Amino acid sequence: MGIEALVIQDFRNYAQAAVELPRRVTALVGRNAQGKTNLLEALYVAATLQSFRSSRAEDLVRTGAEGFFVRAVLSSPAGPRVATVQGAAGRLAAALDGRRLRGAGELRSLVPAVVFSPEDLILAGSGSEPRRRYLDRLVALTQRASHADDLRRVRRIAEQRNRLLRARSADALEAWDQQLAVTYARIAGRRKQAAATVAARLPGAYEGLGGPGAAGCAYRPAFGAEPEADPAAAQEQILKALAERRSEEVRAGVSLVVPQRDEVVLDLDRRPVPHQASRGEARLLALALRGVELELTRAATGEPPLLLLDDVLSELDGIRVRRVLDFIRGGDQVVLTALETAALGELGVGATVYRVEDGRLGPGGGR
Ligand SMILES: Nc1ncnc2c1ncn2[C@@H]1O[C@H](COP(=O)(O)OP(=O)(O)OP(=O)(O)O)[C@@H](O)[C@H]1O
Ligand SMILES: [Mg+2]
Repeated sequence: MGIEALVIQDFRNYAQAAVELPRRVTALVGRNAQGKTNLLEALYVAATLQSFRSSRAEDLVRTGAEGFFVRAVLSSPAGPRVATVQGAAGRLAAALDGRRLRGAGELRSLVPAVVFSPEDLILAGSGSEPRRRYLDRLVALTQRASHADDLRRVRRIAEQRNRLLRARSADALEAWDQQLAVTYARIAGRRKQAAATVAARLPGAYEGLGGPGAAGCAYRPAFGAEPEADPAAAQEQILKALAERRSEEVRAGVSLVVPQRDEVVLDLDRRPVPHQASRGEARLLALALRGVELELTRAATGEPPLLLLDDVLSELDGIRVRRVLDFIRGGDQVVLTALETAALGELGVGATVYRVEDGRLGPGGGR
């Protein structure tokens, strides 16, 4: 399954555009700020109901327009299927063959998509938030609905607790602690497992990209202990940490023992990454994390993924580019952006080329 064609309206800097993706590789070529990444983003939205750049649906709506519309024709063995996504007033609504979709699960399993983008550098940055989201995404590949539900639930619990903490009503907290422990224990168990999978695969992916050194990944939950495998024991660990840090939480006026404060740490040869890795090492590590996501996506869905490569060719030297391209397998559909047609030489495969200029697409000639 892949995307055969895409029509977009009032999406980012596009008033209206249509693109066909007849071949395995499509290249979007153009100068800076013309709409190359925006088109990749539209493809990603059609496949996942999410942007890889912004969590706010309103960012996707063209300035001055009321809402955007994306229509993708998906190829499938049983014939083409049509996915549509509309975004207005900060909300998204999606349909598959005219049937309203409630979540992204069905689309994601039809068109598993993985993006490699310069923004991925943030995965190797000092904040754990992008790495938590990355782990949660890996969890969602194998346990579709329940993890997202638990994350929503725990956000609501944290909000309630924070309200009580701000109001200094610590006595009422206990009612929430039990619920927090139950949900958090499930989340921590899944994150721990996902981190272990990453830890097992990351060194190989990093080495495969020519990265010097051994890359490591570890999950450090906010309750300060390695989560027990038994859910009841993990809940005990959480309740214990909540009791120990109660006065600290009251002083801070905010929940401290919640999954939103879990850390996911990366290291290179046991040196902490955000503080001690070079920019080049950090970039390779981020690429390696996406490489792991790609392997796991393949394994989870059994479908060749849609690979969206944003600026990957221009950000890396020739050897690294070839190594990134080694990630790509025969059946994968690839859509990439590049500043120059010349950069496509590295691909060594026939690609449909579009020239992108000021939110419009023109033929760029095939290669
Ligand atoms: N909601 C929006 N409405 C209108 N224009 C937008 C919107 N969001 C982004 N843009 C504009 O779209 C233009 C193209 O952005 P895009 O990120 O696709 O560029 P690009 O071709 O990938 O460039 P680069 O090579 O620099 O990465 C930018 O000028 C940006 O300001
Ligand atoms: Mg771009």
